[in-house]
This record gives sequence, C-alpha cells and structure tokens, in this order.
Amino acid sequence: MAEGALIDGKAVAAELRESIGKAVTTLKASHNLTPGLAVVLVGEDPASQVYVRNKGKQTVAAGMQSFEHKLDVSTSEADVLAIVEKLNNDPQVHGILVQLPLPDQIDSQKVLNAINPAKDVDGFHPVNAGRLATGEPALVPCTPLGCVILAKKVAPSLSGMDAVVIGRSNIVGKPVSQLLLQESCTVTIAHSRTKDLPEVCRRADLVVAAVGRPEMVRGDWIKPGAIVIDVGINRVEGADGKSKLVGDVHFDECRAVASAITPVPGGVGPMTIACLLRNTVQAACDANGITMPAI
Ligand code: GUN
Repeated sequence: MAEGALIDGKAVAAELRESIGKAVTTLKASHNLTPGLAVVLVGEDPASQVYVRNKGKQTVAAGMQSFEHKLDVSTSEADVLAIVEKLNNDPQVHGILVQLPLPDQIDSQKVLNAINPAKDVDGFHPVNAGRLATGEPALVPCTPLGCVILAKKVAPSLSGMDAVVIGRSNIVGKPVSQLLLQESCTVTIAHSRTKDLPEVCRRADLVVAAVGRPEMVRGDWIKPGAIVIDVGINRVEGADGKSKLVGDVHFDECRAVASAITPVPGGVGPMTIACLLRNTVQAACDANGITMPAI
C-alpha cells in the first residue's frame, strides 16, 4: 500500500492567518475595530518564551494589537490576579491568554477562572468548557480546533467515524473529544488506565494522540487507511546524539499504514496560534455586536 498523505499544518495555518489578516482589515475599515490580544507570561520557561514571542509576532502580522505582560518567576498569585482583572476591564483587550505552566506558588485554575469568559481565547474557563459540552456558542481551545480543521482537510465529513482520542487533559483530550462528538464521530477517550490500548486504537478511523510520550503509538496500532493526528511535541536525543522533535506517534511506522498523518514539527503545532488569532477576532466581534467576517 502507498504511504499515507502528509497533512501540511504549516501551510494550512499560513492560509488561515492570511484569511484572518483580511478579516482584520475589514473590521478596521468598516467598524474602526482593531482586535487586541494580551498575553501574560510568568517566569522564564524557554518553551513558553518561544511560544509567547511567536504569538506576539503573528498577532502583529495579522494586523492586531499585541499586549505582553512579562512577570518575574516569583510573582505572587494576587499580583497575577490583579493583572487579569485589569485586562478584563480594558476595552482594547479582546483576548487574554495566561501562558501555562505557571510557577508553583500560583494556582493555575484560580487564575484561569478569573479571566472574563468573553475574553478567554484559550477556551479554558469552565463556562467555555461547559458551553462546548452543551453545544452553545463558545470560545473553543485552540489546539483541539486545529486538530479538527486538519482532519477535515482530508475527510471533509467525519460523521460516523470511530475516533479514538489518547489523552484526557482539559487542554486537548477532553475538548477535542467534544468537538469530534459535534462532528458526529463515535468517540472513545483512552488514557493511562485504558486496558489494551493498541487494540482500542486499532478500531479507530481517526486517531488523535495527545499524551506527551515520544513515539508511543506504533504502526500496528493503526487500522489501514485511518487518519492520524499527532498533538505531541517531545524533544528527544536522535541517533546522531543531537536533539530532535518527535510526536506521540511513531511517524514512519504509522505513515506506512495510515491514509493521512500530521508530521511533527509542521502539523498540529502551527495551527494552535492561528486558531488563537481566530478566537481573538471572534471575541472582538462578539464584544462589539458584529457578525464575524468569514474566515
Ligand atoms: N502552554 C502550552 N500550550 C498552551 C496553550 O495553548 N495555552 C496556554 N495558555 N498555555 C500553553
């Protein structure tokens, strides 16, 4: 059998960002509205610093306003909550993102719960999680949204598919399961206590791997012709001793069996920021009673 098609997340994300840029131009011209995204970063985690820098660059490239709050690693929970409150009340800020993980002295859930749900462009607030689960309009978590957009690039209707999501986090596993249910998939959420995970996985027409374990999903776990979406980003040492990025999926083995697969890097990763920008445009439109331009 021919190897599976590559789902080019980098290209899809670039298209999405271009389309977002056009929507922003329209909003500026017709409503004098410039969407604004505020990012709060506490501490100096290197991966978080890279994400935040890229978010800032792409926000500005799409014509939006970017506000960055970089705080010392020892910042108190009260000080972070005070900044969130200020951003909640700032009319130029339509989206607020508090970069995770936060240092140990700060209760992340308390901070996320303090964000105005209407500005919660990460979609992590319980109000947005609840709206997603009940099918009400919601701000939807960015990585899950990116996964579904990529799956629909190769299968425009996911209806009736058996989907297996590996991982049950609030950031990816649970929300992507809700989105796939909305797409009329039959969804199984597998996790570390699942019995015979390879066998469960072999039933899937669509596999979403979001566990954070390098190359855990092997080729013989994949049903021939299945679609494989790899959310993992793991830094490992390659055969040459240099560090490299791999997903949660053993790429070469799974590509040989799948009909389509996302690479790491260049698959789901670039979609996350593009979806964040889309959510910011949505929040800005909702805050001003404007119908969002087509994106
Ligand atoms: N850290 C890693 N990914 C994310 C994300 O999507 N949102 C936030 N807030 N923090 C993250």
